Amino acid sequence: MDRNLAMEVVRVTEMAAIASARLMGRGGKNESDQAAVDAMRRAFDALQINGTVVIGEGERDEAPMLYIGEEVGRRHADDPSVDIALDPLEGTNLCAYGRPGAIAVVAMADKGKLLNAPDTYMEKIAVGPRARGAIDLRRSPTENLRSIAERMKVYVADLTVIILERERHVELIKEVRAAGARIRLIDDGDVAGAIATCFEDTGVDVLMGTGGAPEGVISAAAVRSVGGDMQGRLVPRNAEEVARAARMGITDISKIYTAEELASGDVMFAATGVTTGDFLRGVRFFGGGCETHSVVMRSKTGTVRFIQSRHKFDKKPGYNF
Ligand code: FBP
Repeated sequence: MDRNLAMEVVRVTEMAAIASARLMGRGGKNESDQAAVDAMRRAFDALQINGTVVIGEGERDEAPMLYIGEEVGRRHADDPSVDIALDPLEGTNLCAYGRPGAIAVVAMADKGKLLNAPDTYMEKIAVGPRARGAIDLRRSPTENLRSIAERMKVYVADLTVIILERERHVELIKEVRAAGARIRLIDDGDVAGAIATCFEDTGVDVLMGTGGAPEGVISAAAVRSVGGDMQGRLVPRNAEEVARAARMGITDISKIYTAEELASGDVMFAATGVTTGDFLRGVRFFGGGCETHSVVMRSKTGTVRFIQSRHKFDKKPGYNF
């Protein structure tokens, strides 16, 4: 993949973030998601790629745009062929209620390098570069915390674990508390939670718990790009989801995937803040324009770029913000 593509793909997440941020706090989760989808879909047309969505808004029959299998990009003969995992608004409720941590995300890789994950759940553990190699989903949360602490040369009590606040995590939370680690419960947004482990100044060391499987693939692309570590195991809710996974080529449903197996090869990742979170500021509007804050990273070089952009709406007549 051309390295310049990394700087282009951020335009796509910027547009999705601006469109959804316009509707922040209005309480309509579908409304802000739709605005993000529409804007991202339009922005893709200008991107010099032959892209195929492999993680998107859903199956073709349930999502009119950015569905799995949809072809996006400028699509000239010499444009590179890439697979895309996207979430135009990750944390729809966060945006709908103006809570921290909503982002717009796109991950891109060479053809066949992103796991075609079914829309089910995934048990995840993610850490930043300082704890790389210290995680193993076969071990208990307590054992993982001890091993992470040892690798980072800190006490377990110094670790902060980010966990989605869900009924299904009652036992996990109990165990993490008993192990002595600190916890940050989040309402939504475990992609941002996973990425937060890779930036030291967020104060977050580990993501644990079960969230969306598609979000797991997107998280792996991001975590890999920064040199962090992640593992995931699918958690289907019923036989139908197991069958769906099989149709997508997954025969061993209990396989533990490494970050490299979730998103392999040269991976590019871009995210733009919708509402202010741990590592990205949200969209800030001013008369006639707005400012966005994004991160772009690439696994091949490990370069992480934070991009602050000022957009003038009168110069972008195509975008009806
Ligand atoms: P949406 O943006 O699709 O609302 O997803 C938000 C999210 O919190 C993800 O970050 C997470 O992986 C998933 O939902 C968890 O699912 P559930 O809300 O069903 O527990």
